[in-house]
Amino acid sequence: MSEDKIIDGKAFAAGLRERIGREAARLKAEHGLVPGLAVVLVGENPASQVYVRNKARQTAEAGMRSFEHKLPPETSQDELLNLVEKLNNDPAVNGILVQLPLPDQIAEQAVIDAIDPAKDVDGFHVINVGRLSTGTTGASAPLVPCTPLGCIMLLKNRLGSLSGLNAVVIGRSNIVGKPMAQLLIKESCTVTVAHSRTRDLPAVARAADILVAAVGRPGMIKADWIKPGATVIDVGINRVEGEGGKSRIVGDVDTQAAMAVAGAITPVPGGVGPMTIACLLANTLTAACRQAGIEPPVL
Ligand code: GUN
Repeated sequence: MSEDKIIDGKAFAAGLRERIGREAARLKAEHGLVPGLAVVLVGENPASQVYVRNKARQTAEAGMRSFEHKLPPETSQDELLNLVEKLNNDPAVNGILVQLPLPDQIAEQAVIDAIDPAKDVDGFHVINVGRLSTGTTGASAPLVPCTPLGCIMLLKNRLGSLSGLNAVVIGRSNIVGKPMAQLLIKESCTVTVAHSRTRDLPAVARAADILVAAVGRPGMIKADWIKPGATVIDVGINRVEGEGGKSRIVGDVDTQAAMAVAGAITPVPGGVGPMTIACLLANTLTAACRQAGIEPPVL
């Protein structure tokens, strides 16, 4: 295995969190501002509980305030909307994240719609989605979904300019696939969004200089789907049965085999995963600056 082919998201995320921590300290010293992130968890989904715990720890480590709201699984939509309204109006809260998925009695879209777009650090509100797709810049630039933002940072760090490259995104979710495509268009890539109904997916994938896999199927992308030298970004986080009955996490790409063909590849774990929370902290810092009328730092 060639180490220089591996895109070390864990190390990049650690560096990003350090820069965020420095900027947060400067904001406090110069403006008396401590960014605050509220994370809301409804119910007891074990994966969500782990994410929320990690978010709270890393927020505090970056010198920001973390507010955790854990609600029981039977929480009604109105109760959750009331909490969102309270957080919208709380000046100590600069960013709001409601962990998805939500229990069946709550309509996710109604909750996303209720979050103040200026505090929507997930970038899921239609105002932010629209601003991303129209390419709005400056004070009304969008808050961008954390996972695709992390992927773009890793790509630019590895490749420099992405201009003119063929990018194929496999997956069309609102959380990853669609915003990823928008960000790649912004970087002047030629973008194809492929999905479960795409005809001859391997052939489509083989045209990619940049291949982003966000399908949630362990090892689905094989080595012969990859153009020699391509950069592969594996967004998959799939729990599979490992040796001795223990579970382990694998991506959407058959990484070992892909390594022989790809020019560079993100491992799972240690690739895109750690970038998501780091970008959430970056969005919280950006949101706090904008709310205070301060130019956000370039991270
Ligand atoms: N569940 C899985 N990923 C995410 C995410 O990025 N944001 C939220 N709010 N929930 C998630």
